[in-house]
Amino acid sequence: MKAQIVIIGSGNVGTHLARVLYSKGHNILQVFSRTLSKAEELAKKTEAEAIDDLSKIISSAELYIIAVHDDAIKTVSDQLNIKGLVTHTSGSVSTKVLDKHKRYGSFYPLQTFRKEKKSDWKKIPFCLDANKKKDLDFLEKVARSINDNVYFINSENRKKLHLSAVIVNNFVNHLIGVAKNLCDENDVPFEVLIPLLNETVKKATKNNPFDVQTGPAIREDKDTIKNHLQLLDEQLYRDLYKMISRSIAQTNFGRETKI
Ligand SMILES: NC(=O)c1ccc[n+]([C@@H]2O[C@H](COP(=O)([O-])OP(=O)(O)OC[C@H]3O[C@@H](n4cnc5c(N)ncnc54)[C@H](OP(=O)(O)O)[C@@H]3O)[C@@H](O)[C@H]2O)c1
Repeated sequence: MKAQIVIIGSGNVGTHLARVLYSKGHNILQVFSRTLSKAEELAKKTEAEAIDDLSKIISSAELYIIAVHDDAIKTVSDQLNIKGLVTHTSGSVSTKVLDKHKRYGSFYPLQTFRKEKKSDWKKIPFCLDANKKKDLDFLEKVARSINDNVYFINSENRKKLHLSAVIVNNFVNHLIGVAKNLCDENDVPFEVLIPLLNETVKKATKNNPFDVQTGPAIREDKDTIKNHLQLLDEQLYRDLYKMISRSIAQTNFGRETKI
C-alpha cells in the first residue's frame, strides 16, 4: 500500500519517520517545520513540499503525523483544518488532545531517536491507537510496511509503557554516563565495563530482573557500600547510590533497610 502522508515537525522523530516511510514507497506530500530551512532539508530527501505555515497544510492527505514537542501537540493539532487521520508520535500524551478531529490516533515508534544517528527500523516497535477501527487497521498497514513489530496500546497503557521506557532508556543511560565519568576521572578504561554491561542487559531481559540481581545492596554488604559512598565526591551521586541501593534491598527483602 502507498499512503499519502504529511509530516508535521522536522526534528528527530519527524526526520526519521519521513525518511523511512518514503523509503517504503509512501508519498510524503508535505513536511512542516517553523524553520523553513529545516523543512526544506527533509523535504528534499523525501520529494515533499516544505512548508513553515500550518495554514498551508493540504486537506487531501490520508495521514497526518504530528512529531513536535509534547506540549505543542494540542496547539498544532487545533490549527489543522483537515479531514484525514491525525496522529502524534508521543509516548506520554493522550490521543484525546487530537479530538478536535473526527479521526485521530497514535503512531508511536518506541525507540530513542537522534536526527544524526541511523535507526534500525527492522527492530523498532510501533504502538498504535485510533478512535475508529478502520483507522487502526490503516495505521497497522502503514506500520507493517516498515516492520511487523506492531502493538495496539491505548493512551492509558501507552503512558505506563513510556514511564518504563524512560526508566530502561533515560535512567540506565544516565547511570552509564555517571560510571563513565568516574572511570575517566580516575584514569581507568571504561571499555573494561562493556562486557558486564552487555551481560546485564542480556540476563535482565531473559529472566525476571529481580531474580538475577547481584551486588553489595542485595548482599547487605555494609562496608563495601560505605567505601563506595566515600569514593563519590558529589552529594547528588551519593544520594543516587543510596536511593537505588535501598530500592534493590527493599524490593528483595520486602522491608526498609538502612543504607
Ligand atoms: N526523540 C525520541 O527519542 C522520541 C522517541 C519516540 C517519540 N518521541 C516523541 O516524538 C515527538 C517529537 O520528538 P523529537 O525528539 O522529534 O523532538 P525534536 O527533535 O525536539 O523536534 C520537535 C519538533 O517540534 C517542533 N515544535 C516545537 N514546538 C512547536 C510549536 N509550538 N509549534 C510547531 N512546532 C513546534 C520543532 O520545530 P522547529 O523545527 O520549528 O523548532 C521541532 O521540529 C515528541 O512527542 C516525542 O515525545 C520522541
